[in-house]
Amino acid sequence: MKKLMQIISLLVVSATFNLAQANEEGAHLEKAHIDPSNMASLQHGAKLYVNYCLGCHSLKYQRYGRLAADLKIPPKVVIDNLMFTGDKIGETMSIHMPVEQASNWFGKAPPDLSLMARAKGVDYLYAYLKGFYKDDTRPWGVNNLAFKDVGMPHVLEPLQGIYAKGEDGHMVQLSKGELTPEEYDEAVLDLVNFLFYVSEPIRSVRIALGIKVMFFLLLFFIAAYFLKKEYWKDVH
Ligand code: HEC
Repeated sequence: MKKLMQIISLLVVSATFNLAQANEEGAHLEKAHIDPSNMASLQHGAKLYVNYCLGCHSLKYQRYGRLAADLKIPPKVVIDNLMFTGDKIGETMSIHMPVEQASNWFGKAPPDLSLMARAKGVDYLYAYLKGFYKDDTRPWGVNNLAFKDVGMPHVLEPLQGIYAKGEDGHMVQLSKGELTPEEYDEAVLDLVNFLFYVSEPIRSVRIALGIKVMFFLLLFFIAAYFLKKEYWKDVH
């Protein structure tokens, strides 16, 4: 029993250490407080994605049908509102722009975003989508605080408005968009939340299963412990 306690405390110590380290790495980025269990947020994120991002960025591992099921959107709504005409519900969320031409237009082809949330982290995506500022030296008239000399236009500008980079590095609003700054942050969080879901659609199932397994192991451990006690009673 003493040994077991030692092992458990070692595990706890190393887990805390890992967490502390992970936090330190992301310290310079604002935290994106997403909630992957919030369906309304995910649905809003999906809608924003289809309207503002899917023109350039595919989600090649995400099928429309799975999206409808996971985000609890009726398939008919998905077909009517979220899909290009001609696509089928069983298909993946591809784009209709030839890669070669895209490279010509933007200098770099827009990457597939299926795994972007895992590759770069949600805090980075949040900073990136909030980081566009006016810079007339750039081809699209914008630069980005999180991605220097970015090749992507600021597609959310109608929502956010136009910002300039102040002398201390802080953003200053030059003209208003359709949303207030708070509403824009909320919209971007929903979009990031959606990209986090897309990067691992099975996540909620995995966590629910994991909890059941841990519960079973706990019950099993208790049963095994008392059984062992019973068996060894006569030996000692
Ligand atoms: C008009 C085409 C276009 C649209 C629409 C567009 N992007 Fe992009 N995006 C690009 C291009 C081009 C790049 C590559 C930029 C580069 O590498 O310089 C890019 C890069 C990115 C990256 C990668 C940044 C990195 O660090 O590598 C992310 C994330 C991204 N876009 C998110 C979005 C989101 C979210 C939307 C919708 C709100 C969106 N994009 C809409 C063209 C687009």
